[in-house]
Amino acid sequence: MRFQDKVVVITGASSGIGAAAAKLLVKEGASVVLVARNQEKLANVEKQCAAIGKSPLVIRADVANEKDAKRIIDETIDKYGKLDILVNNAGIFRFDLVLSDTLMKSFDEIMNVNLRAAVLITSLASPHLIKTKGNIINISSSLGQVIKMNNCISYATSKAALDHFTRGAALELSAHGVRVNAISPGPVRTDIMENAGIATSWDDSSTFTALNRVSEPEEVADLIAFLASDAAKGITGSNYAIENGASLK
Ligand SMILES: NC(=O)c1ccc[n+]([C@@H]2O[C@H](COP(=O)([O-])OP(=O)(O)OC[C@H]3O[C@@H](n4cnc5c(N)ncnc54)[C@H](OP(=O)(O)O)[C@@H]3O)[C@@H](O)[C@H]2O)c1
Repeated sequence: MRFQDKVVVITGASSGIGAAAAKLLVKEGASVVLVARNQEKLANVEKQCAAIGKSPLVIRADVANEKDAKRIIDETIDKYGKLDILVNNAGIFRFDLVLSDTLMKSFDEIMNVNLRAAVLITSLASPHLIKTKGNIINISSSLGQVIKMNNCISYATSKAALDHFTRGAALELSAHGVRVNAISPGPVRTDIMENAGIATSWDDSSTFTALNRVSEPEEVADLIAFLASDAAKGITGSNYAIENGASLK
């Protein structure tokens, strides 16, 4: 088991990619900390993890709230005494345009969750990750590199910034033996659009990709597990695409 005795914090673990990663890492021996806001969804993932093998620590928290962010790391250390892996996965999507009246509202909301929270939690977690020579995985998006749609400028900008933060943090923390990597998915069948109040069919998104398919969250979870494992000990500052060839089109 690749993650026996490892302690992993996953933000945004109540659904989608974070929930799939939590279940895979529990299966592989990890003690997992589930972080999100929706109590019902958290309880559901908690139950599934327990059925797989080990009950996770559940921390109901808003990652964009500074006190909550501190509590996530404090409660993890109180319970397990250490931290090996941080997955900054919590994220939100909104449609917006430079020319829309509500641009700054959605920009601030998205930046606070997708970027600022990841930066803050990275800084709070890093002293603990240095002790364990652990690693960080930031869940970005293919939209951080290629603007394919003209109606998600804040989301794309938040992910481009997260990519650069990943490289900067990787360089700084490499001196302490801590690896930092990003994963950039294309369309993945999750609750992200529903959570944004957008009615859409994931099957429509397959037309954006060369392979003409949408990924399942478990595919991204597999990549998270690889990058978080010792098999990736030589990988830092990288950004792994998992987008069904979307950028080829
Ligand atoms: N699905 C895709 O097509 C796709 C593509 C590229 C990148 N991504 C990225 O993948 C990551 C995971 O998204 P997903 O697709 O799995 O969507 P999802 O099913 O909506 O999951 C997002 C998670 O983030 C949590 N979250 C959102 N705001 C939060 C906050 N303020 N505090 C704490 N938790 C918060 C949500 O939980 P609560 O609502 O319970 O708080 C949920 O657990 C995101 O960073 C997203 O940008 C997704």
